[in-house]
Amino acid sequence: MERELCVSKEAIQKRVQVLAKKISADYEGEEPVLVGVLNGAVFFFADLMRAICIPTKMDFVRATSYGSNMQSSGSVRLTKDIELPIEGKPVILVEDIVDSGLTLSYLKEKFEQRGASSLKICALIDKLERKEKDVFVDYCGFQIQEGFLVGYGLDCNEEYRYLPEIYRLK
Ligand code: IMP
Ligand code: MG
Repeated sequence: MERELCVSKEAIQKRVQVLAKKISADYEGEEPVLVGVLNGAVFFFADLMRAICIPTKMDFVRATSYGSNMQSSGSVRLTKDIELPIEGKPVILVEDIVDSGLTLSYLKEKFEQRGASSLKICALIDKLERKEKDVFVDYCGFQIQEGFLVGYGLDCNEEYRYLPEIYRLK
């Protein structure tokens, strides 16, 4: 499929540093649990966690709201849960992209019910064109108006994840 460059490697890395600095300052004296949403967030998660200069812990969930196409199926299912206890702990959900908002609003509610002391959302991309659920992104990498994006972990039917930059499929 044809694609056009949307965000360069350099721009991603610069932005990750800015987000990491902000998180480090906001959570000074705490030890937040970073919960990455597999698979898309892996590169962003790894870069972000290493750039944060306070102690953090890592865990992962896997959620599906998408079938194998580019359309949301509307319902969210957890296919892998976290393993660390989060009761009384500050949690930061680290996601690749917020599209309909269904995945993150589901995860947010779930972790709040489990007694996280605070719950914030860090997303590499906040897609503005379609939001069924209004989700507030506390730490946002890039706001992008439209299109289907791939690269830096983001896929289309499991392709393109390996690309170091972010592209828009044409
Ligand atoms: P939601 O629609 O906000 O629930 O997003 C669900 C998931 O769909 C995200 O975590 C991504 O994995 C995937 N997704 C949504 N938009 C895109 C895109 O433009 N490119 C690649 N994956 C996407
Ligand atoms: Mg995802």
